[in-house]
Amino acid sequence: MIRVAAVGDVHIGRDMAGMLREQLSTVPDRADALLLAGDLTKAGLPEEAEVLAAELDGLGVPIVAVLGNHDHHSDRPAEVTAILRDAGVLVLEGGATVVATEGGTLGVAGVKGFGGGFVGASGSAFGEREMKAFIEHTQERSEALAGALGSLEADVKVALTHYSPVRDTLSGEPPEIFPFLGSYLLAEAIDRGGADLAIHGHAHRGREHGVTAGGVNVRNVAQMVIRQGYAIYAFEAGAERGGRFASASVGSSSSS
Ligand SMILES: [Fe+2]
Ligand SMILES: [Fe+2]
Repeated sequence: MIRVAAVGDVHIGRDMAGMLREQLSTVPDRADALLLAGDLTKAGLPEEAEVLAAELDGLGVPIVAVLGNHDHHSDRPAEVTAILRDAGVLVLEGGATVVATEGGTLGVAGVKGFGGGFVGASGSAFGEREMKAFIEHTQERSEALAGALGSLEADVKVALTHYSPVRDTLSGEPPEIFPFLGSYLLAEAIDRGGADLAIHGHAHRGREHGVTAGGVNVRNVAQMVIRQGYAIYAFEAGAERGGRFASASVGSSSSS
């Protein structure tokens, strides 16, 4: 059994020292790794990242993260990433990692992702330079995700993004803003690269469960959606691909 704890959109501010540490204190007893699905800070300030890093440093399980749009807001994502790395957090943007656990190997491929919308209601790289830049960014990051997933050799493969690959998990958000919450290109990348689970955040008013057209389970772990400190997903390693995804129960935190 491989157990993954996941949460996104913790939006840590400078005045929030201690809160996340308490919420995550039970993770080492219940999971083999912690995945963070972006929007880790309120405004992407290094001072906020320092608070977050202190919360995560020495937690006791490997931590893999992607950044979210909030973590880019101050145009200092490299500094935020470096601060988290110094605390032992692996921040992925188009890369992948393999975590060895007692139950087998856990592969994680991560990108922030971006918007653009979903089949039947999506933007295209046409017209103004700004519109082309918007969609091309999504295309590039989706390609990076497919490549990272394809490179992984692991018993269980997880795709980690901030933006949503499917519309299912956006249910509850106004449909008018779906193109700013995710893109079907991410789901195509996940189906192409292969994954046992896709985890994302960003949609605070969405819902937890979804699935790609290719049958990959998708989970929105925005903290406002899971209403817990973190969610736990468990996998049976060694079964044939597609049969490994054992359960998707939401874990409870020590503070709830
Ligand atoms: Fe958020
Ligand atoms: Fe976000």
